[in-house]
Amino acid sequence: MKKQRVLTGITTTGTPHLGNYVGAIRPAIEASHDTNNLAFYFLADFHALIKCHEPDLVHQSTREIAATWLALGLNTDNVVFYRQSDVPEIPELCWLLTCMAAKGLMNRAHAYKAAVAANEEAGEDPDFGVTMGLFSYPVLMAADILMFNANKVPVGKDQIQHVEMARDIAARFNHHYGEHFALPEAQVDDHVAVLQGLDGRKMSKSYNNTIPLFLDEKPLKKHINKVKTNLLEPGEPKDADDSTVFQLWQAFATPEQTAYMREQFAAGIAWGEAKKQLFELINGQLSEARERYRELMANPSHVEAVLQAGAEKARSYSTPFLRDLRSAVGIRPIK
Ligand code: TRP
Repeated sequence: MKKQRVLTGITTTGTPHLGNYVGAIRPAIEASHDTNNLAFYFLADFHALIKCHEPDLVHQSTREIAATWLALGLNTDNVVFYRQSDVPEIPELCWLLTCMAAKGLMNRAHAYKAAVAANEEAGEDPDFGVTMGLFSYPVLMAADILMFNANKVPVGKDQIQHVEMARDIAARFNHHYGEHFALPEAQVDDHVAVLQGLDGRKMSKSYNNTIPLFLDEKPLKKHINKVKTNLLEPGEPKDADDSTVFQLWQAFATPEQTAYMREQFAAGIAWGEAKKQLFELINGQLSEARERYRELMANPSHVEAVLQAGAEKARSYSTPFLRDLRSAVGIRPIK
């Protein structure tokens, strides 16, 4: 049987935090060991340029995200792990798809619509601050996906629409030029937790409430101590289901450890004690990877070499495929 192709991208803005780890990185790394799939994971650095115009931040984030995934044990023998900008066939395919993508479809994209709505709210011109990058972003994402004929695309809920647009664009291309693309499907895992941040809202860089993944022990402890609790005293029973401390615990604990902590909450564990145990749990799970992360950050040429090897593998798929696609649209040698 032909292997299922699984593909996902990580936009290189920001430093990975516990929410990214639990929601996306950990499941993807587990899946990287499944030899029934052919997986493509890539650093979406062209996508980063849509949101971030600070060269140093884009570069630093690329370095940190690559080191993070490698430190956590990504199986690069079984997964094609590459940087989007190392595969020139992707932006080229992006243009072929741009010429097949309906503008009306792009008008409906959430990210663009949200920007327009915010402008209207503020009494600005609707397109104030909207770049063509933001507007055409779903086409670039379609190129990422279709370049490797991905079947399954693991994403968060906010990205489902983009995968559906990729599907629409693929169908239109196929209809016009013949069956070239598999039709991708979004894969949203409802079991993975959406982690709460320090203030109890969803952990997100935009709320500034994150716990970075590879903090050293001391700052990790400090961050965990900042997690919002209530004023209940030691000895007073606490509601586990209403607690960010418990939710974080659950994201790292075995079912037995979760049951144990639930009992502790009912028995009135002090917040300080619960946080101390939470720190030990998380620190225990991350300390080895953190060590490897430090080594990788100190050895950028190794990380670069891994990415170059990944790009070579990626291009062994994209180069011949793009040749066929060019030919299909009528771009081929004159003879
Ligand atoms: N846009 C995605 C995000 O912000 C990242 C991404 C870029 C992606 N290209 C992709 C995800 C292709 C899946 C497939 O999360």
